[in-house]
Amino acid sequence: MALRPLAAAPLLALLVTSAQEPVPPAVRYEQHVFAGGNPPPAGTLQNPFTGDKKAAADGEKLFGLFNCDGCHGGGAVGFVGPSLADGRWRYGGADGEVFHSIYYGRPRGMPAFGGILPPDAIWKLVTYLQSLEPKQDVSTVAW
Ligand code: HEC
Repeated sequence: MALRPLAAAPLLALLVTSAQEPVPPAVRYEQHVFAGGNPPPAGTLQNPFTGDKKAAADGEKLFGLFNCDGCHGGGAVGFVGPSLADGRWRYGGADGEVFHSIYYGRPRGMPAFGGILPPDAIWKLVTYLQSLEPKQDVSTVAW
């Protein structure tokens, strides 16, 4: 994807090199069934930008720049990929769960972005998605 210089400048400001970033730990999925009632050891990731409007605005820009909207639709309302704005999550809506969806990808068509986006940028995307208010009348059709 060729970026116009004007579009690339803010993008570069949002990104830092990801090569030396530590890999995030496994996260616990609370909706999973734990054999014997005992969850395996796992980390709990917390969004460092929770409620940060600037981070949400940056995340919205990244959502367009990295073509998330090409699959999830403008405003993340769903297109060939599922809606990320209806408050319903296939893989969980907790901070670490949404982070993992973006960082490692998901099997039915969600690319892994952890190799090209540093964790900070992914947290900004998470912040943007978490800032979207589900509509009152959410469609019963699953996207
Ligand atoms: C090539 C199309 C495509 C692109 C590009 C894409 N996604 Fe996805 N995404 C999908 C599909 C399809 C799924 C459903 C995967 C599944 O069910 O296994 C998904 C799932 C997700 C989920 C999990 C949703 C849930 O209900 O738990 C999140 C979060 C997400 N995408 C965020 C993003 C973000 C942020 C970007 C941009 C950085 C992005 N996606 C780019 C296709 C895409």
